[in-house]
Amino acid sequence: MSDMEKRQLTPLDHLLSQADQALRTMFGGPPPASRENPAANAESELSEAERHHIAGLMRVNHAGEIAAQALYQGQALTARLDAVRDAMEQAAEEENDHLAWCEERLRELNHRTSRLDPLWFAGSFVIGALAGLAGDRWSLGFVAETERQVVKHLESHLAQLPAGDHRTRAILEKMKEDEERHGEIAGRAGAAELPEPVRKLMGLASKVMTTTAYRI
Ligand SMILES: [Fe+2]
Ligand SMILES: [Fe+2]
Repeated sequence: MSDMEKRQLTPLDHLLSQADQALRTMFGGPPPASRENPAANAESELSEAERHHIAGLMRVNHAGEIAAQALYQGQALTARLDAVRDAMEQAAEEENDHLAWCEERLRELNHRTSRLDPLWFAGSFVIGALAGLAGDRWSLGFVAETERQVVKHLESHLAQLPAGDHRTRAILEKMKEDEERHGEIAGRAGAAELPEPVRKLMGLASKVMTTTAYRI
């Protein structure tokens, strides 16, 4: 085994790899998805007005996945327990699939991603790092609550999809399944129940993001 392989990663190594990932997420496009796009064999028939609406929804979901990347990366940076850090990094990888699928769907519809991506990323990164600093139980509680809210949000998008849009439906259904699992993993790992005002505040912050990213 070489010296490099034996060397333990220092906090600085983690920080540098986070910075590298952050820049890639926002400016390089996501790394290729690790799983097949769930829409691969699905059809979609949409009117022009429907395409416009779906693009707005997918821009919101893409922005949400940018925020998820930041959240998980921020938490991985500050998590104290190795097992928690590993779970966060694993979830971040699945979130990357979501990011790639949302981006692909937007490209198919000939619409762009949110211009405010760096803002969604920066805001979420800080929140994730703060949650991580508060301790692993709170940090996991934050993940569990975030995923719970994301699942509800995805359900509302699924309910709005035109019957003919099987492509978007396939992607959102797979995402919902993953987010449910992320929430369960966080719960099993010892997530604390967040106080009501914090949960409300999180809902408010996501409302700002979802209404803005639909347009901008
Ligand atoms: Fe996701
Ligand atoms: Fe998730």
